[in-house]
Amino acid sequence: MSRSFQFGFLAAGLLAAAPLAQAYESGDVLLRAGPALVDPDATSTDINSQGLGVLDGWRVDVQSATALGITATYMLTSHIGVGLLASTPFKHDIVGAGVLGGAGKLAETKHLPPTLTLQYFPMPSGSNIQPYAGVGVNYTIFFDEQTTGTLTGAIDQGVSGALVDSTELRLEDSIGLAAELGVDVMLDSNFGLNAAVWWADIDTDGTIIAREGNTAVDAAFVDVDIDPLVYMIGFTYRF
Ligand code: NI
Repeated sequence: MSRSFQFGFLAAGLLAAAPLAQAYESGDVLLRAGPALVDPDATSTDINSQGLGVLDGWRVDVQSATALGITATYMLTSHIGVGLLASTPFKHDIVGAGVLGGAGKLAETKHLPPTLTLQYFPMPSGSNIQPYAGVGVNYTIFFDEQTTGTLTGAIDQGVSGALVDSTELRLEDSIGLAAELGVDVMLDSNFGLNAAVWWADIDTDGTIIAREGNTAVDAAFVDVDIDPLVYMIGFTYRF
């Protein structure tokens, strides 16, 4: 073991052993803030057009996005808490996949993914290191969906007999399971550092409306399984 490694080990041991002046207890509120990254593991169905049928291999992917994450825990007992993940809106690019793989950006959307979990804190309530695990529900609200000229152009080429000059995307809200792991490292009774990761089952049904002027000339459907990991690091403040 190198000397610096030994020292790091010793420092971590001392930090872990340092008791909190005030133990985690029922009624405590932990508020945390920091940057959050939503990293989708997206897969989609083939786009299914009313006019053209299933477009073989026309799929989409969802890029990652960052926003300000804000989480809160309300301690029901010294070991059980209720957690809420909130954030400023995430803005994701939706790009082509499959045969649309080289197409680039087709659309973008904003979303808010509020997540409510029941959390278990296994450590003694006086420990300054408080890992936790939670399970619960994610509700994702999509809004401000925008399409690009690339998507409109691709659909225009596919739809014969009409000049598609605009497209519109609608994404349905998603409700699904969520799980999380996190840790608070309290530096004193009120102030600490936090790291957390969530997995959420986020699936949405997308509808693309194609228009010539004001007339809808085609509608196409795509189901997207987004299922992201969400990472956040930040500060914890205990009230
Ligand atoms: Ni899913």
